[in-house]
Parts: sequence; C-alpha cells; structure tokens
Amino acid sequence: MAAYVDYAKYYDYDHAIDTDLAFYINYARQYGSPVLELACGTGRLLVPVAKAGFEIYGIDLSENMLSLCRRKVEKRDIGNHVHLFCADMATFDLPRKDFALAYIPVRSFMHLFTQEDQLACLRRTYDHLRPGGVFIVDVYAPSYSHLAKEQEEGFHLRREVAMPNGHRLIRRDRFLRNDPVLQIQHYEICFEEYDEAGNLINKRTLPLDTRYTFCYEMQLLLESVGFEIVDIFRDYDKNPFDGTEEIIAVARRPG
Ligand SMILES: C[S@@+](CC[C@H](N)C(=O)[O-])C[C@H]1O[C@@H](n2cnc3c(N)ncnc32)[C@H](O)[C@@H]1O
Repeated sequence: MAAYVDYAKYYDYDHAIDTDLAFYINYARQYGSPVLELACGTGRLLVPVAKAGFEIYGIDLSENMLSLCRRKVEKRDIGNHVHLFCADMATFDLPRKDFALAYIPVRSFMHLFTQEDQLACLRRTYDHLRPGGVFIVDVYAPSYSHLAKEQEEGFHLRREVAMPNGHRLIRRDRFLRNDPVLQIQHYEICFEEYDEAGNLINKRTLPLDTRYTFCYEMQLLLESVGFEIVDIFRDYDKNPFDGTEEIIAVARRPG
C-alpha cells in the first residue's frame, strides 16, 4: 500500500500503543513457535513477541516499514529468531509451512481491497499453518454512522505527539467518501512536523483507504478457505463481539 512508504517515518510516533500486545503474546504462549505476523510493519508487536522468546516470521509490503523493523531487531539483538520478508499478504510463499500461530493485527486486513485478495490472503495463511494451527484477524466493526456519511469532511485533529527529537507531530484525518459497492471508505491523513521553534518543517498528506467487512462476511470468508471459527471478540479483553469496536476473529486450521 503506497501510503506506508511515506507513513513509515511517523508510524511509531503515531502508533505508540500496546493495548493488543498482551492478547497476542498470550496466544503465542498458548500455541508456541513458529509465529507468523502478516503486515508486521515496523515491528511494533513483532519485536516484543520476539523478545519474549518466540521464533517469529514477519512479512510486509513496505520496505520502508520493514527497514525500521530490521533496525530494532538488530539493536535488540534478537535477529537469530526473527525472519523478515518483503511480500504481499495476498501472494506470500515462505520457506516453511508449519506455523503454530499466524495473525494480521491492527486492522491491516482492511488494506485488502477486493474479495479476491482477501480470499487469497486467507488461503495463503491457511496453507502456511500446521494442522491445528490458529489464525487471528482483527478489523474494525463497520460503524453505521460512518457508513451513513455522504459528504466529504474537512480535516479534524486526530492526535498531537511530542517526538524524541523535541519536534511536535500533528496528525489530522478527513473522510472523503464511501464506496458502498466495493465497501471502501476513502480517507486522507495529514502529518505536520514542527521544530522546537514552532516552524512547520514537513507536511505530508496520504491516502488511507480501508475496506470494511461485516462479521458474518468475515466468518464466511474464513470458513470458505477451510478455517473453523473458534471465537469472535470485540476487544483485546476477549469480550464477545456485539457489533461495536472490532471484529477479532480467532480461527483454526482443522487438524
Ligand atoms: C497499520 S500498519 C500495521 C503494522 C504492524 N502490524 C503493527 O501492528 O503496528 C499496516 C501495515 O500493513 C502493510 N500492508 C498493507 N498492505 C499490505 C499487503 N498487501 N501485504 C503486506 N503488507 C501490507 C503496510 O505496509 C503496513 O506496514
């Protein structure tokens, strides 16, 4: 996805969250190595999972995101059990097909814009799991108020963060339009970086489109490639799905 080429520079400041980390580490503890993270990005989750001792493989389409991940892996000296590949999650083919656990966290599955690519990704993942292996995919639950929007909106402030170099980063988002046929919401995000004196030193506006998937649709997609549904949660505390927040589907390759 082209946006992440430019997004990489600010991703870790923008996504300084770890609310999903305990959830994924607990699954890794339950199912063990090797673990596969699809769309691993800068290693926000991959690095702490590797530090916890798991053998982990990560793939991502953006070399810029991956190079930040590689730097962290080198710095923390965990390279002997981390394997990174620049690959598309709809077509990847890794040298091993015995993963105990695979996941696509933080709604990255929403960057697959056609049902063909969604199914291809799920099939590739299924083929990389050992029998009995578990797969987790996390997307936003479609919000009816968002789907009802018709008019383009102006930018609104999403967050403001202090960067370690003393600069200030401001992120603004705006909704552009819904495509109800393709189930795609077109968005833009805008980063502004200000130096210590308050001068604007960089401004980037990036498209960030997402395809939404309904819960029954997700179940059918998973089942149609052979997965059995184990659980569907609405949050990382494992509260059952109720139509709000997220669709966190836990599925299993029968074994
Ligand atoms: C929201 S970030 C998530 C990164 C990381 N998993 C995390 O938890 O912070 C989305 C990632 O999806 C990657 N991506 C988008 N489309 C992809 C595709 N078709 N195949 C592989 N990676 C993709 C982007 O490059 C980006 O790194």
